Amino acid sequence: MCGIVGYVGAENSADVLLDGLKRLEYRGYDSAGVAVHVGGNIQIRRAVGKLRNLEKSLRESPLVGGVGIGHTRWATHGRPTEVNAHPHIAGPVAVVHNGIIENHLALRKELVAKGCTISSDTDTELVAHLVHLEVDAGKDLESAVRATLERLEGAYAIAVLSEKEPGKIVVAKHSSPLVLGVGEGATYCASDIPALLPYTNEMIFLEDGEMAVLDETVRITDREGKTIEREAQRIDWSPVMAEKAGYKHFMLKEIFEQPRALEDTLRGRLDRENGDINSDEIGLTDEDAKAIKRVIFLACGTSNHAAMTGRYLVESLARVPTLLELASEFRGRDAVVGEGDLVVAVSQSGETLDTLIAAKEAKAKGAKVLSIANVIGSAIPRMADAVFYTHAGPEIGVASTKCFSTQCANILMFSIWLGRRRGTLDENRAKELVEGLARIPQLMGDVLQGTRQLCANLARRYVNARDVLFLGRGLSYPIALEGALKLKEISYIHAEGYAAGEMKHGPIALIDSSVPVIVLAPHDSSYERSLSNLQEAKAREAQVIAIATEGDEEAREVSHDMIEIPRVLEELTPFLTVVPCQLYSYYVADFKGTDVDQPRNLAKTVTVE
Ligand code: M6R
Repeated sequence: MCGIVGYVGAENSADVLLDGLKRLEYRGYDSAGVAVHVGGNIQIRRAVGKLRNLEKSLRESPLVGGVGIGHTRWATHGRPTEVNAHPHIAGPVAVVHNGIIENHLALRKELVAKGCTISSDTDTELVAHLVHLEVDAGKDLESAVRATLERLEGAYAIAVLSEKEPGKIVVAKHSSPLVLGVGEGATYCASDIPALLPYTNEMIFLEDGEMAVLDETVRITDREGKTIEREAQRIDWSPVMAEKAGYKHFMLKEIFEQPRALEDTLRGRLDRENGDINSDEIGLTDEDAKAIKRVIFLACGTSNHAAMTGRYLVESLARVPTLLELASEFRGRDAVVGEGDLVVAVSQSGETLDTLIAAKEAKAKGAKVLSIANVIGSAIPRMADAVFYTHAGPEIGVASTKCFSTQCANILMFSIWLGRRRGTLDENRAKELVEGLARIPQLMGDVLQGTRQLCANLARRYVNARDVLFLGRGLSYPIALEGALKLKEISYIHAEGYAAGEMKHGPIALIDSSVPVIVLAPHDSSYERSLSNLQEAKAREAQVIAIATEGDEEAREVSHDMIEIPRVLEELTPFLTVVPCQLYSYYVADFKGTDVDQPRNLAKTVTVE
């Protein structure tokens, strides 16, 4: 997730672009840049880090001109360096881009073969070169962009300038957001409404497959160049509402962003035809996969719960002995680890100190380290032998939600990849899993819409509970732990996540009529036993909530309330069972009036002992 902005008008464009980027900084903040038409040339300024660094560079060396594009980056290809920052230039062309170009490896090869010099690691620079080649072949900018779009697979919102046509910006969209603004003698584009609100309330939403040319007016066309008439809409949001896209908290916004975050994370990685995972970017070879003797997952907090799904999945799909270790307990204890071990370090931030130190210790003893991280170029990916990034975009709420589900997606993809290479997962079964995973974003969207109100009602009913129990077996056990962690960290209610089979070994003593017990009982290989847990809890007068498969009358009978999720393969249930746990926790905290996005005593990234 990145933010783009563009301006054509009489003001100094660099000022408008910087101001717009400030309002888009929530979409990415590892580097930023602008390109402005100055005289007959395009000039750029780029800076690593927060926007204030770009601001400083523009103060020291201003750009004066009325047409420009800007970008704030959340890295997906290549580390957050100045050379990887947007805009990217090729000949007379400058491009900013939000999204992921899936076929970037093939395009890079092709462009290098044609003699292009590619200076960055980004997919975006390739777009700039493609447009440049078309312009060199005699096309005007609009036609050159149109021809380039034919070559792109993946998601993009792009804004393009050319020195040869100084008064205009050409934009295009597919799967990434882009809104156009129509002001008094000025036109704008941006990834999101807040960037434009101080300038105009008249907005046009570009649809997938559409392009537009911005000069004194806005002209929208389809891919064939046919003009599309669309009236501007009046948007009367306050800037704060706009930043959270109308949601009350970032956490709720991020819960609802999960289908999009998963789509971005899965994009280009599922090989549906062969039942496999495209793994070029992981950097582990087939030989590496075969040589692994043991997999050790290391992580903290929510990432540890995602890693726990890996313990089940790697064992069952790839048949490799698998351990799960809290990074804080692994480090410093001189664990037995070494050659033949693959350590999978899971961390949203990629900076968690315990996970970083634990992974370094394992590497020093001869283990290979695979990092699953969300922040490109952060410390753990940098020290790791191989990296498999999630593409959730920046997560602002301290309580992790969309990053958890994208971590689970990467872990499942890694397990399939490993199983295929080790011959323990046959093609048909892998195809089923890959197909099922491809459908998850859609199903998750359905669960979000379908369970939101019931979760809010239940949260209202139990807002004053002193204790809450979450129970689950197999792949629902990590989700029970995650549900309990979400509830305690944002609502400050004491919550326990337990392996359901352990209930009778102790926690059952906690149960009475004041305790809500949330039992995850989807149709899976533990279903019958989960049903017994529901019965046991109800018999002790607990307030029983089942999260179960739609139409499950047995589960409904033995619970007070049932939250339904669609039937999916067992390996995919975590993506759906986690949603009601997140929503329930969110609404309890909201009704209690706690600081949902910045709960007390917690920090987003824990880089201290
Ligand atoms: O950045 P990481 O994934 O390494 O962070 C690990 C934990 O600090 C983090 O998951 C924490 O538990 C969150 N507050 C959970 O919502």
